[in-house]
Order: sequence, then C-alpha cells, then structure tokens
Amino acid sequence: MKNTLILGTQWGDEGKGKVTHYLARQADVVARYSGGNNAGHTVVIGTETYKLHQIPSGIFFERCDCMMGNGMVVDVRVLLEEIEGLQARGISMERLKISYLAHVIMPYHLVLDGVSEARRGEQSLGTTRRGIGPAYSDKVARNGIRVMDLLDADSLRELITFNLRDKAHALADVALQPDPMVRDYLALGERLRPYIDDTSYLLHQRWKAGKSILFEGAQGALLDVDLGTYPFVTSSNSGPGYAGAGLGISPKAVDCVLGVVKAYTTRVGTGPFPTELEDATGERLRKQGGEFGTTTGRPRRCGWLDLVALEAACRVHGVDALAITKLDVLGGFDPLRVCTAYRHAGKTLERFPLSAKVLAECEPVYEDVPGWSDTISDVRRWNDLPRAAQEYLAFIERRLGIPVELVSWGAEEDRTLVREGAAVGR
Ligand code: GDP
Ligand code: IMO
Ligand code: MG
Repeated sequence: MKNTLILGTQWGDEGKGKVTHYLARQADVVARYSGGNNAGHTVVIGTETYKLHQIPSGIFFERCDCMMGNGMVVDVRVLLEEIEGLQARGISMERLKISYLAHVIMPYHLVLDGVSEARRGEQSLGTTRRGIGPAYSDKVARNGIRVMDLLDADSLRELITFNLRDKAHALADVALQPDPMVRDYLALGERLRPYIDDTSYLLHQRWKAGKSILFEGAQGALLDVDLGTYPFVTSSNSGPGYAGAGLGISPKAVDCVLGVVKAYTTRVGTGPFPTELEDATGERLRKQGGEFGTTTGRPRRCGWLDLVALEAACRVHGVDALAITKLDVLGGFDPLRVCTAYRHAGKTLERFPLSAKVLAECEPVYEDVPGWSDTISDVRRWNDLPRAAQEYLAFIERRLGIPVELVSWGAEEDRTLVREGAAVGR
C-alpha cells in the first residue's frame, strides 16, 4: 500500500480513527505526528468500542508498529492509563513507540489552559482543557519538557523548578510543588521507558525497507493553527505539511493524502461555522449522528456540508482522494442542502475567507440535492448505495474535482466500502 496520510478535512471528528483502523490491516506502521489527547479517535471492532486519544489506531493489529512522533504533546499520565486500559482488554502494546523528543503536557499546562479560557470569558475558545495550547507554547518558547527529560532526574528537576518559577504568577492560586512533581514524573518516565525510542530513525528504516506507512492525522484542516479559523483552532498543524517535521522524516515519505469528510459538518468548541443549524434539523443531525465529543462528551454543533471550506482544506493540503463518512446519518433528510458559496457584504464569495471575523459574517448559499429515505445496509458495491446517495457523492466529487474512493455508512468495520479501481489501500 502507498504511504497514505489520513487527514481530517473539517473541524475534527470526521471518522479518522475508523478510516485509519480500516486501512491499517494492510499497513506495517501507523504514525501520529501532531496533537495530543485533545484528539479522540473511535474504533469499533465487533461489539467493542475503543476511544483512542494518543495511541495510533493501528494498535489492534499484531504486525503494525505504532509510533507517536516528536510533533505530538503527550500527557504521560493519561497515556499510561490508555496503555493499561487497552492491555486490560487484551490488546498488546509491544509495538508502541514514543519519540524521545515529544513534549510532555505537565500539570501546570492543564491549569494554564483553564486560566486562559477563564480569562478570555465570552471569547473563550472552548478548548478541550487538556493543556494542549500551553504545552505547545512552552515548546516554541523553548521551556518545554520532553519525554527524554523524564529519564534524567537532574534535567527534570531543573526544568520543573524553572517552569514553576516562570509561571508562578499565573499559578498563584494553585499549590504546585516542584519536589513531588519531579518524583511523580520520574516515576511516570520509568513506567514509560520500554516504549520510548528514536521514532524518527525507526520510521526511516521502515520507509527505506519499503514498508507501508499510514500517517494518522489528528484534529482537522479547519483547526490547523496556520490555516484554520484562527484563533479558534488548536495549537498544532493538522495537515501533511507537518507530518515530516512531526515525525522526523522526509515529507517525501507521504505518497498520498486521503481526506476524511463527514457527510455533513460538525464542530466542538467556539468559532465561526457558517452552515451551523441551531434548529430542529441540527438537533436531528446531532441525535442521528450521535454527535457528542469523544474526548469531552460535549454536544457537537451540527450543520450541512460546506464545500467552500472543504475546497480550501483540499487545496491547501493537496488531498488526492476523499473518504466520506457517516452517510447513513443523512438518511431521511430530504432535500439535503450543500453550501457552495457564501454571501458577504453584498458579494458572493466562492473562496474560503482567511479571516475568522469575515467567516463569522458569511451567510451560506445552498444548493439542494435530493435525499434518500432508505436505510443503507448490505452494501457490497457502489451501486448498492441508494441512488440519491450515489448522486450526493458524485455532486461532492464534481465540485471538488477529487474522487470519492472510500465510503462509510456506520461505525462498524464492515460498513465501509473502497470503490473498485480506487488508488486508496493499494
Ligand atoms: P475522529 O476524531 O475523526 O477519529 O472521529 P471520532 O471518533 O471523534 O468521531 C466519529 C464518530 O462517528 C465515532 O463515534 C465513530 O464511531 C462514528 N462513526 C465513524 N464512521 C461512521 C459512519 O459512517 N456512520 C456512523 N453512524 N458513525 C460513524
Ligand atoms: P480529533 O482528532 C474536534 C478543538 C477544541 C477547540 C479547539 C482548541 O478527535 O478530530 P485544544 O484543546 O486543542 O486547544 O482546543 O480545537 N479540538 C477538536 N475538535 N476533534 C478534535 O480532535 C479536536 N482537537 C481539538 O474543541 O475548539
Ligand atoms: Mg475525535
């Protein structure tokens, strides 16, 4: 299989976990390059549901190496819980590797995430409060603590002492003492020791040996810190442009980009969302789609598919093929509405605006397409899909100029179809 990058093309939760796991049966490596436990990737295997936050979605396959790259920020306490939770369910962790260079989300990052959100008041970003922003801020400010530091008592003590002093003002209301923190994190480092490695080197070796690699994106194109709806974004880059830096490998290792698109749109947290439906239709999408956050349980905001935003996501990140998920959820909505342009200040915009302020002022222009009432089941081939569903997919393909190669109509593995002749999975 070509080395494929699984990219969320919207505001996250498109079904990247399901698609990654589906393709991982043919992969030798699944590697994550950005984000932390703000992500929640759901994998359903038979009657079992797994919610992965930091561990790559290939962990269920014995032959698959799972790598957590240096571009991630890792909450090691949560990671150990994740590891042990999966082990208790019979999943082997033998092939999990974490980069020496990944940054660690520390207890003060969690506090600072809350403090910063509270300080923003009405303008809060609706973060997952997992300390992601503060951990990436420290990385860039060169104050970060890396996984390798957990294995070196002197470095860790120095870094924790410095950081608690540096942040004393912001942390005035909480009692965080360096000594117990150093003890705790050295102990966590010891427990993680078997998994810590030079993932950049390991990945390079596998690439050169011709192994097939899946790059598992987290978050989504519209949450990308550079190219998303800033400041209502996460603190890392979600796209393939970051896969090289976040894994310490040449960007040329990525052969193709598979854009995962939910058949409608959702968003958790605040920020502009032109096609949001704050009415009974939106409520129905949320109910039929089970749209509640995998990480925080928050209800997701729901709305129609937005092709203006998708065009930008696919263009910016060079999406080669599309995987459309949650097609089943649209059953019974007729007509279906698709946003194909925006109206702003008396003008029609066909290109996604760079400013979140302008985006917030945009009104969607919809084209209606016929819906279907049949439930989607027993699909073996493309032509088994309801005719209107096929037309909906063809509409998306035509407008984006990108082929739909994978379709998903349920959380379960067997509710997935790779189109005949598709490049994906090969
Ligand atoms: P991710 O963050 O992109 O991996 O997506 P999440 O796991 O956070 O959210 C996607 C949700 O939709 C999960 O609960 C999945 O089990 C579920 N899901 C994935 N694909 C489908 C689908 O085709 N149909 C339905 N009904 N649910 C799906
Ligand atoms: P997956 O990988 C959906 C959103 C948060 C918030 C903003 C900033 O499961 O698709 P952060 O905690 O990152 O500082 O929050 O980003 N967000 C996500 N929304 N899915 C995710 O990940 C997300 N990761 C972050 O809700 O709006
Ligand atoms: Mg998710």
